[in-house]
Amino acid sequence: MEKVCVIGAGSTKYGKLEDSIADLAIQASVGAIDDAGIEPKEIKAGYISNVFGVADKQVHIGPVIMSNLGIPEVPSLSIESACGSGSVAFREAYANVAAGFYDAVLVTGVEKVNHKGTEWNTTYFSYCSDFFYEGGSGASFPGLFASMARAYLAEFKATEEDLALVAVKNHDNGLLNPKAHLQRKISVEDVMNSPVVASPLKLYDCCPFSDGASSVIICSENFAKDHTKDYIDVIGSGRGGSPAALQGRDHLTTIPSTKIAAEAAYKMANITPKDVDFAEVHDCFTIAEIIDSEDLGFFEKGKGVDGVREGLTKRNGDIPINPSGGLKSKGHPIGATGVGQVVETFEQLMGKAGERTVKDANIGLTHNFGATGASCAVHIFRRA
Ligand SMILES: CC(C)(COP(=O)(O)OP(=O)(O)OC[C@H]1O[C@@H](n2cnc3c(N)ncnc32)[C@H](O)[C@@H]1OP(=O)(O)O)[C@@H](O)C(=O)NCCC(=O)NCCS
Repeated sequence: MEKVCVIGAGSTKYGKLEDSIADLAIQASVGAIDDAGIEPKEIKAGYISNVFGVADKQVHIGPVIMSNLGIPEVPSLSIESACGSGSVAFREAYANVAAGFYDAVLVTGVEKVNHKGTEWNTTYFSYCSDFFYEGGSGASFPGLFASMARAYLAEFKATEEDLALVAVKNHDNGLLNPKAHLQRKISVEDVMNSPVVASPLKLYDCCPFSDGASSVIICSENFAKDHTKDYIDVIGSGRGGSPAALQGRDHLTTIPSTKIAAEAAYKMANITPKDVDFAEVHDCFTIAEIIDSEDLGFFEKGKGVDGVREGLTKRNGDIPINPSGGLKSKGHPIGATGVGQVVETFEQLMGKAGERTVKDANIGLTHNFGATGASCAVHIFRRA
């Protein structure tokens, strides 16, 4: 297999945005191409992640992006894997470069749904669950993650205030990220006093619906060396699956797909969780970040909550989690999120993350899943 590198990254701001889905995707793609210092014609394929293009009347968006980049002849593949689409697109791009099919490819994730409103979004997002058992029976994603939160609070004697600490930390990080959707300092009291969405989850325990796009250019090591001295290596890549519906799982407090994907990625990278300097993880709801931090091996089962209480997951802690602000504060444009995590990791490892830089970081990990973790991808990166 070829060694695979990331040589450029670009992103729009995340939030409630006016631009069309195509404009957002093109802005992020051009940003990544410029950052990599390459010509569009050097791109040999596009991997495009998007879930609800229909909301802005543009599906099959790959050829639209390629045409606007002036390379209509370049093939593209649209990938939908719910909230995990971005990391799955990254994985497919990685596999094709590693296999030697292409030496440089564009990975772009995009979503534009805010103009449709919360009711439309809640309904359509529920189509990403196992609709027979979950969405069709009235269980929205806040409801499903609330079930996981209830189980965790009961099993490990955690409190709603503990969950709130995750939101407070991620909003603190997001304040330092000019591209974050919710740039607002909040306190535990703010979280506790915010409206209940699905008990025990309150407004500030939830990620928002976001618009936005993120892109990276990935390539073979030879291509990277021909173009730049500064890049990062992809040293681990893993994917995993879980029973689609929560009722098919043995436990509500762990996500099997995360463990499977992480194990494969650690094995490929030949490292252990202790070697990771920071992680961008899928915190669609505060409870998810705590569960992720255990499934990824940063804490033992039931101890992720101690990590948050003791500040170990803060930017200056032992294992900083979501220095970008995470889905909670940076936002969650579902097609873009997994690619956005790679953008953050690239900026962190290249020393381009400004005030939110994690000190002395050499190895970063990204973790992104679809639905309640029915599908998952984990990637590990090292500064070249
Ligand atoms: C939490 C949620 C229900 C809020 O929806 P809503 O009540 O219709 O929110 P609105 O868009 O009307 O915004 C109302 C206010 O809350 C803020 N807000 C919205 N979502 C927020 C969030 N998740 N966290 C913090 N503040 C939020 C808005 O900025 C707005 O504040 P303002 O009035 O000061 O501008 C919605 O964001 C949600 O369902 N999030 C989860 C999305 C999801 O499931 N994603 C998939 C994950 S698997």
